[in-house]
Amino acid sequence: MKFFIDTANLDQIREAQDLGVLDGVTTNPSLMAKEGIAGEQNILDHYVKICNIVDGDVSAEVISTDYEGIIREGEKLASLHKNIVVKVPMIKDGIKAIKYFSNKGIRTNCTLVFSPGQALLAAKAGATYVSPFIGRLDDHSTDGVELIRQIVDTYNYYEFPTQVLAASIRHSMHIIKCMEVGADVVTCPLSAIMGLFKHPLTDIGLQQFLNDYKKLNG
Ligand code: E4P
Repeated sequence: MKFFIDTANLDQIREAQDLGVLDGVTTNPSLMAKEGIAGEQNILDHYVKICNIVDGDVSAEVISTDYEGIIREGEKLASLHKNIVVKVPMIKDGIKAIKYFSNKGIRTNCTLVFSPGQALLAAKAGATYVSPFIGRLDDHSTDGVELIRQIVDTYNYYEFPTQVLAASIRHSMHIIKCMEVGADVVTCPLSAIMGLFKHPLTDIGLQQFLNDYKKLNG
């Protein structure tokens, strides 16, 4: 299972990269805005900065919602760096654009996916990744991890090459549950990744080992 970090914050990306377990980054317009990145050139420059930190796929999202606009923006984003994956919303023109990009060898991440039917369309169009948003489904009393399971199972059955990228992850348990149902990728906030380290028995056990060593060795 690949590990992506879901942020546009360069410090957090560096911190995750330093762990040595990071496979990529996802961003979206809200995450870019949170970092105060505005204006087309600044946004493009920021994607390049991210690509220079992490040697893995970096999802950069289009803001156009019409076919021509998505194509224009996506081609510009893809030309920034070999690791850029064009993130396209799950809308009619988005699916048409994903098909176009797929034919041209430009990799895509179909975002804002909330149902198996939407995941089917993304796979048929040739998306590299499909991003079901599990936290946002949970917020609406719908089991987000169950959607990941459905998509993973059906993609496997039909041998669709599209990778299931579990998005909108809120905590470490989401990561564990996604791992159990076979997600190809999880994209997580840094806090959820760091939460995986925590277990009180690890802390207690380590302290005991160090104390016992100290007793004999000073
Ligand atoms: C994924 O690529 C999205 O950017 C992200 O996971 C959305 O998460 P949120 O629901 O916490 O905003």
